[in-house]
Amino acid sequence: MRVLITGAAGQVGQDFCDVLSGLIPGGGKATALLGTDPVAEGEFELIPCDVAQFDLTNHDHVATNIAQAAPEVIVHLAAYTAVDRAEEDPKGAQELNVNATRYVNDAAQACGAHLVYISTDYVFAGDLGRAMVESDETNPLSVYGATKRAGELACDPSATIVRTSWVAGLRGKNLFHLATGAAQDGRALRFVDDQVGTPTNAADLAAGLVAFVRERPSGVFHVAGSGQASWFETIQFAVEAAGGSPDQVSAISTAELDPQPLATRPAFSPLLSERLGSVGLVPLPDWHEGVERLVRAIELRDHRS
Ligand SMILES: NC(=O)c1ccc[n+]([C@@H]2O[C@H](COP(=O)([O-])OP(=O)(O)OC[C@H]3O[C@@H](n4cnc5c(N)ncnc54)[C@H](OP(=O)(O)O)[C@@H]3O)[C@@H](O)[C@H]2O)c1
Repeated sequence: MRVLITGAAGQVGQDFCDVLSGLIPGGGKATALLGTDPVAEGEFELIPCDVAQFDLTNHDHVATNIAQAAPEVIVHLAAYTAVDRAEEDPKGAQELNVNATRYVNDAAQACGAHLVYISTDYVFAGDLGRAMVESDETNPLSVYGATKRAGELACDPSATIVRTSWVAGLRGKNLFHLATGAAQDGRALRFVDDQVGTPTNAADLAAGLVAFVRERPSGVFHVAGSGQASWFETIQFAVEAAGGSPDQVSAISTAELDPQPLATRPAFSPLLSERLGSVGLVPLPDWHEGVERLVRAIELRDHRS
C-alpha cells in the first residue's frame, strides 16, 4: 500500500515512518496497539514528505506532487504546532493548518486517496470537568485550536480525523527530555497542576495510526494514552521513572507562570473514545506505560551517544 506522509520529519512523523517500515521507535518488540496487527515486512511503500520535498502552503506544489506520487492513503501530520507563536502569527497558522489541509484534501480527492488528518484536544475548551468524547461540541480557546478545528472541517466527510493530545516522542522537543535530565542532575522543576489531559507516547500513536491506514474508517476518533493527569503529575512520574525523586517536582498554578503563556489552553481535556470499539479497535495503553517506555527510550539513546 502506497502511503504519503506529510510532516514526515516531525516528532510523530519520524516515529510513524519507523512503524510503517516495521521498526519500533526506541527499540523493543513490535507491538499491536489499538488491537491491530504489527506491520508485516513490505506491507507499506512510504512516500515521506516534509518542507525539503515541497511546501504544503503552495497549492500547485501540493497538487502536482501528490498527483505524481499517486498514494492510496495520505496521513497528514504537518501542522503549525507552535501553540503560543500562533497567537502572534494567526496568518501563518491559518495557512498551514487550514489552507494547506484543504490543498491536501483536494489532492487526495483528485487521486482517490484516503485522508487521515491528525487533530488535537485543543479543539475543546475543556470546561466540562470530564473527559471529552468524539461527539462533544468543540470550542477552541486558542488560534492553534481554532485553526486545527477549521482543518478538520476542511477534510472530506470520508476522511479519518484522529484527535490526540500531549504527544511526546524520542525525537521531539518535549518536556520528557527535561525530566530525564533533571532526574540525573537533581534539578528542581515546577509544573502546573491545573491543566489536566492525556499524555500520549508518539510511538504508541504512530503504531495506532496503522489501524486507520489499513481500515480507512470515516469520521472523528480520539486516540490518546488512557487515563488522565496534570502536567505536574506527568512530569513527577517521568522524573521518578528516570530514577529521580518526586520531591524534585513541585506544583504551581497556571496563574503563577512567569511569563504568562500567550495561548489559553484547556484546563481539563483528557480524550476518551466512544467510537474506537465500533471499528473493532481498543484504546491505547495507560499513559503511565507510555511515559515509562518513552523515558527508557530516552535513557537508552543518551547512554549510547
Ligand atoms: N505534539 C503534540 O502535543 C500534539 C498534540 C495533539 C495533536 N498534534 C498534532 O499531531 C501532528 C504531528 O505533530 P508533531 O508533534 O509531530 O509536530 P511537529 O514535530 O511540529 O512536526 C510538524 C512537521 O510539519 C513540517 N512542516 C511545517 N511547515 C511545513 C510546510 N509549509 N510544508 C511542509 N511541511 C511543513 C515541519 O517541518 P519544520 O520542522 O521544518 O517546520 C515538521 O516536520 C500535528 O498535526 C499536530 O497538530 C500534536
